[in-house]
Amino acid sequence: MAIRRIRTYPDTVLREPAEPVTNIDGKIQQLIDDMADTMYNAPGIGLTSNQVGELFRVIIFDTSPKDEPNDLTVLINPEIVEADGVIVDEEGCLSVIDYRADVKRAECVTVKGIDREGNPITLKKEGLTAIVLQHEVDHLNGILFIDRISKLKRELYKRRLKKLLKQGESS
Ligand code: NI
Repeated sequence: MAIRRIRTYPDTVLREPAEPVTNIDGKIQQLIDDMADTMYNAPGIGLTSNQVGELFRVIIFDTSPKDEPNDLTVLINPEIVEADGVIVDEEGCLSVIDYRADVKRAECVTVKGIDREGNPITLKKEGLTAIVLQHEVDHLNGILFIDRISKLKRELYKRRLKKLLKQGESS
């Protein structure tokens, strides 16, 4: 188990679509363990494989309340098969430094995929977990939540980020 480096915007790896997993081998198991370490260490409530630079369709998430035991879900090759309703809530992302913004999503989603043992699973979720699932599936398609806000807000963030990164270089 190891903590991997989380890639951050504008790293181009975040823009590359991830490939379906065809064989859940030792390398994928290792990747999943490392992703869990990385997510809990950050800390975050969701992480995809391409956020740590590996272009596989693997997502993990844990939306259990902080005072409750961990409840990790691993989802491989996820596919949103149903989406209903509308919810607007503030999102952030481990790959988007120092920024949160309201994003419009479906309120309920049904997602199909396979677990780390290769068994098919279907998740029907609403609210926060539905938001996380849509956010993470977006990642696998090279989409970030800042693509789903207004152009003006995105441009303002880009400008601020440039300054932040410049300050980081000089300090
Ligand atoms: Ni994210």
